[in-house]
Amino acid sequence: MARTAELIIDGKSYTFPIVEGTENEIGIDISDLRDKTGAITLDFGYKNTGATKSAITFLDGDLGILRYRGYSIEELAEKSTFLEVAYLLIFGELPQTDHLEKFTSDIKNHTMVHEDVKKILDGFPSSSHPMGVLASLFCAQTAFYPESLDPNRSAEGVYLSIVRSLAKMPTFAAWAHKNAVGHPVNYPDNSLNYSARFLKMMFGLPAENYEVDPVVADALDKLLILHADHEQNCSTSTVRIVGSSKASIYSSIAAGINALWGPLHGGANQEVITMLEAIKQDGGDVEKWINKAKDKNSGFRLMGFGHRVYKNFDPRAKIIKKAADDVLGKLGVHDPVLDIAMKLEEIALRDPYFIERKLYPNVDFYSGIIYRALGIPVDMFTVMFAIGRLPGWIAQWKELRENKEPIGRPRQIYTGQKEREYIPLTKR
Ligand code: ACO
Repeated sequence: MARTAELIIDGKSYTFPIVEGTENEIGIDISDLRDKTGAITLDFGYKNTGATKSAITFLDGDLGILRYRGYSIEELAEKSTFLEVAYLLIFGELPQTDHLEKFTSDIKNHTMVHEDVKKILDGFPSSSHPMGVLASLFCAQTAFYPESLDPNRSAEGVYLSIVRSLAKMPTFAAWAHKNAVGHPVNYPDNSLNYSARFLKMMFGLPAENYEVDPVVADALDKLLILHADHEQNCSTSTVRIVGSSKASIYSSIAAGINALWGPLHGGANQEVITMLEAIKQDGGDVEKWINKAKDKNSGFRLMGFGHRVYKNFDPRAKIIKKAADDVLGKLGVHDPVLDIAMKLEEIALRDPYFIERKLYPNVDFYSGIIYRALGIPVDMFTVMFAIGRLPGWIAQWKELRENKEPIGRPRQIYTGQKEREYIPLTKR
């Protein structure tokens, strides 16, 4: 028998169907709640609200499980490349050799950006945060490809937009950095793979003089895989809600980039390094900073700790912690903030405050340490996250479109003034 949930309001009972996912998670389908009862639900931060059904990513925050299209993140990080994972997320299956070759070559064909993009870039002062520049350049694609504004675009047209998004992202990202440091931009070198191409555009002075270290390119590829999707997080929900208005893929993703920027979301990776540096400057007294994080009046939180859905170890943090050790070892880098990070983790995980609230290191806790070892400046950390998250945003945007989901439009409980009389200025 189909499972149902009963809701009683003022003594009157209403029945709602229970929806079950493939991993047995359940949701109460309240699509007709307002019609039936006149009431809405109230759930600040959507902590208990399922906004969609999705077949892309499964995560179990209590068990610390993350899977893309059924494959464990651990296995994908070890065995796949970023573009394979991008293909998997967007099209649902791991690619066959010929599919991957075509996808990779289509992407390479679109890595160049219109020369006029440089004029837009020139308008940004070098003080601009690269995330703001990235979001703007991404959105500007709507100007260069106005056909992307057509909500009824053909499947081929959508594929082209997807390929263009993936192809141009590293170029925009590297150029956002070049703008910040006041250097001339480099053009993409299509003989390289995705991560190496980005590194050469970012670090080349000029590109011809820069030899990509395979250790660095491999480490970056792994980091991008770990960030590639994370179901209905803040930036992805933003992409879906903007996309639900039938806005173009470029503007939907630009909105996602902006949402990711905040320090409580992707911006945390930048904040973690700032925090670890501050602890180091302060003499390395980790206990003192833990106490500060526990003191609600301090306004300070342990950045890179805690997660809305993980109430156990973030599986990505485990992989990144090990990768940080490997990469620093291979590159012969000793970063004292890694020691501080490990000490911070060790003490926090023994502390009842963090235990009771189930606060564990999240993906951002160790990623900044690797980015630093790879020579990536702190301002670019969240940009790196955005490069990684792009396939997830695309996959979710495409799914929303294919599912023909309605426009996202939450309700509210109004708490303002009741209707009142307007008093003209002269009488106030
Ligand atoms: N340091 C200290 N205390 C914390 C922390 C932290 N990092 N995170 C949560 N808490 C405490 C809260 O003060 C609260 O305590 P209380 O119950 O006594 O009031 C409790 O833990 C629950 O926290 P909420 O803020 O209600 O949890 P929420 O799910 O809303 O927030 C978030 C999750 C935003 C990630 C939060 O843990 C945080 O601010 N972490 C630091 C920022 C960070 O690392 N963000 C990156 C997240 S991963 C990502 O987006 C890619």
